[in-house]
Amino acid sequence: MTGISEEINSRRTFAIISHPDAGKTTITEKLLLHGKALQKAGTVKGKKSGQHAKSDWMEMEKERGISVTTSVMQFPFRESLINLLDTPGHEDFSEDTYRTLTAVDSCLMVIDSAKGVEDRTIKLMDVTRLRETPILTFMNKLDRDIRDPIELMDEVEDILKIACVPITWPIGMGKQFKGVYHLLRDEVIFYKTGQGDIIQEKDVVKGLDNPELDERLGEYADQLRDEIELLSAAANEFDLEEFLAGQLTPVFFGTALGNFGVDHVLDGFVDWAPKPLSRETDRRTVEPEEPDFSGFVFKIQANMDPLHRDRIAFLRVCSGRYEQGMKIKHVRLGKDVRISDALTFMAGDRARVEEAFAGDIIGLHNHGTIKIGDTFTSGEDMKFTGIPNFAPELFRRIRLKDPLKAKQLQKGLIQLSEEGAVQVFRPLSSNDLIVGAVGVLQFDVVVHRLKTEYKVEAAYEPINVATARWVTCDDAKKLEQFQNKCRDNLSLDGGDSLAYIAPTMVNLQLTQERYPEIQFFKTREH
Ligand code: G4P
Repeated sequence: MTGISEEINSRRTFAIISHPDAGKTTITEKLLLHGKALQKAGTVKGKKSGQHAKSDWMEMEKERGISVTTSVMQFPFRESLINLLDTPGHEDFSEDTYRTLTAVDSCLMVIDSAKGVEDRTIKLMDVTRLRETPILTFMNKLDRDIRDPIELMDEVEDILKIACVPITWPIGMGKQFKGVYHLLRDEVIFYKTGQGDIIQEKDVVKGLDNPELDERLGEYADQLRDEIELLSAAANEFDLEEFLAGQLTPVFFGTALGNFGVDHVLDGFVDWAPKPLSRETDRRTVEPEEPDFSGFVFKIQANMDPLHRDRIAFLRVCSGRYEQGMKIKHVRLGKDVRISDALTFMAGDRARVEEAFAGDIIGLHNHGTIKIGDTFTSGEDMKFTGIPNFAPELFRRIRLKDPLKAKQLQKGLIQLSEEGAVQVFRPLSSNDLIVGAVGVLQFDVVVHRLKTEYKVEAAYEPINVATARWVTCDDAKKLEQFQNKCRDNLSLDGGDSLAYIAPTMVNLQLTQERYPEIQFFKTREH
């Protein structure tokens, strides 16, 4: 058996951040191809090939037309074991995405090189910055006419406030895309079209001054030499510490569709990205090498298998070793549970691994007892921090079409809110159900899922709510007084926490002034 440190050192856990259509799905497919988890690319999306997708979750995403899942894929590459966490891909910005980013140690930013930096990438980068997550960058779609590479890097630096260091540099673009020059290896890697579905044999010429380049690249050879000279004078130098602090990003150019350059990025992850990092709890910092098991739940996913009413809690292992059949403590409930059937996520058809280490994600079967943010340990009482629940910005009242199904509706909504898809508020003074979301698309997802998974038909009505705040007070008596006075504006959320539902921002402000002893929170840490 390999030692725990070796296992941890080999792990790289990351997510892809990008704007829709930049190529996240395509690059995921090529990453799996390089991890030998797919025999032939084209099986993830399956849209054109008609082949079955490798993962049921992606199948579901296809059926729903939007991505509501966060999937996890584990595959080996070189001496590393990669855990790739997929973030929901729809245009709406959801809390799931935030939380997924709390479970990774680094990120791959994919940019459509014809478009440059787009909205969602900006938002996602804001989230990664909260934890100073190291970022690698892939400039995609070089087989198309793209924008000037220098201009692209300038845009990343200006808008995303992160220094760019080119590791590879493109030669030509669109139909004239010839390949890239690897600045650190001093070699040109040639691109061939029509080989996107396989791992290509490397066609490499060593040395920028090599006359073979003039033969093969013609006028592009001298142009490349000029550009590299310019870069060595002007571009930043790669600095591992700055990268690890999230201040600098190594930049790679290529085409995901042509499966070109993706392996350079993977090399970057193996060589530079951090191994699983330490994590904070309310008691102390947990190091990944500690022998005792610990981890936190960042995502709950319903009905992964449409035939079973199954819900899976995704747990990021933070320390120790998970072994099949082991007993762990569900800290919030103070209860020991035996985990005999956790899921691991090795992509492809290889044998299921029955152990997991820091950086890995395991899926726990959930029968309604596990909530997002829950900590599991070998016995120690502590709670991982920093897995937030955000105050929703949009609110609707939800109404049943068939009033007899009120129970199912409430159950469905509470389960969906445990997953973090939306938040549900139950006013203390009425039987209404208020749904709150961070993005508008989540409302549609909820109605759709209520119908397909809970057999409840529901519709929305507008409601006069501007914002919600979670409220607490150290003084139980004061809290009770506040509850009595403001009963009409108070609700319980899906986890039974008390929230103040404000019709206007002015109302919220006045209430805060009137009750200074009450604390109002924009996020509820689970
Ligand atoms: P996403 O998950 O980030 O939303 O992007 P996705 O991979 O689905 O890619 C969006 C579109 O961009 C797809 O085309 C995909 O084939 C294309 N694409 C991805 N990488 C490259 C690339 O390197 N070069 C070129 N030329 N295109 C690329 P589509 O027509 O929208 O979808 P499909 O019908 O091909 O599946």
